[in-house]
Amino acid sequence: MEKNPLEALEAIKKESAIAIASIKDRLSLNEVRNRFLSKKSELSAIMGMMKDIPNEMKASFGKSVNELRKYIETKVKEKEDEFALKELNEKLEKEKIDITLPGRSYERGKINPYYAIVDEISEIFLSLGFEVVEGDDITDDKFNFELLNIPEDHPARDMQDTFYISQNILLRTQTSGAQAHKMIDNSSKNELKPIKMICPGKCYRRDDDDATHSHQFGQIEGLVVDKGISLADLKGTLELFVKRLFGEKREIRLRSSYFPFTEPSVEVDVSCSHCGGKGCSMCKGTGYIEILGAGEVNPKVLEMCGYDPKIYSGFAFGVGIDRLAILKYGIDDIRRIYTNDVRFLKDFEGK
Ligand code: PHE
Repeated sequence: MEKNPLEALEAIKKESAIAIASIKDRLSLNEVRNRFLSKKSELSAIMGMMKDIPNEMKASFGKSVNELRKYIETKVKEKEDEFALKELNEKLEKEKIDITLPGRSYERGKINPYYAIVDEISEIFLSLGFEVVEGDDITDDKFNFELLNIPEDHPARDMQDTFYISQNILLRTQTSGAQAHKMIDNSSKNELKPIKMICPGKCYRRDDDDATHSHQFGQIEGLVVDKGISLADLKGTLELFVKRLFGEKREIRLRSSYFPFTEPSVEVDVSCSHCGGKGCSMCKGTGYIEILGAGEVNPKVLEMCGYDPKIYSGFAFGVGIDRLAILKYGIDDIRRIYTNDVRFLKDFEGK
């Protein structure tokens, strides 16, 4: 038997109250929504029964149906909000950051002492108006030897055996080739400008590697060419350089020496940082430590490179980069500079 609309409404009220009370998850929530709020729900169907309601009751019946719908909607919404909040809290709980975990550490690269000292030396010479020129590691016999007044069969070649790519092409044994390059560059363009340059770079020699010898090492060639350049200019420049690099208290000493491409030639020593010149184990009792070779550019070299030695003169020096780094930073073994051990670089940090 078909219920009359009022009874039907009462029944829906009761059933919906029970159904709402039993909502426990999203599934049952959707069931309630479908059952009581969809277009095909009993509550929607009940509106079709309006015709069976006496006219004077139509308004209040309609109102009751709407109120019930509103009530169910509110309850369903409340439950939905409750679930959403619960789900959010669960998600937050799961994604909680454990601040007691140690963070990820990042390794930062450090500058190798080799490049640190090249930068420092370059700064000093740049401030004196020198330019920094990069030469090539691979060169030929002419630029590594001949133009530096070391012809074939010259005994100086014995000490500078190197790695040969062909009979004529080789890995440079010294940055001194930069002297010849610069002068020839200028003279070939007929621009005999004064020269003030340094050339830092790697050099190679046949050698048995140990704590103080390496088949690969860095050298900085310095060259000044102009009218009236004397040994006094060389001494003054090197004195200033050494004091800037090692400290004001350090003194230099010049000893006569021999290089085929300089005449006269000198060996330059710096007073020992450890004993200040008195003599100790570090300087082998001499009070001085040898740091570089230098001299007045040999007129023969000037001539071969297109600078007339009757008009021009100059000085040149060659300093070992690794050696300076060892002295300045107190490094005990030259191999540390190129074996890429991060622990060494860490030790070096801050020096
Ligand atoms: N090139 C020389 C060497 O390796 C050093 C040097 C350079 C000496 C310039 C004098 C002038 O021994």
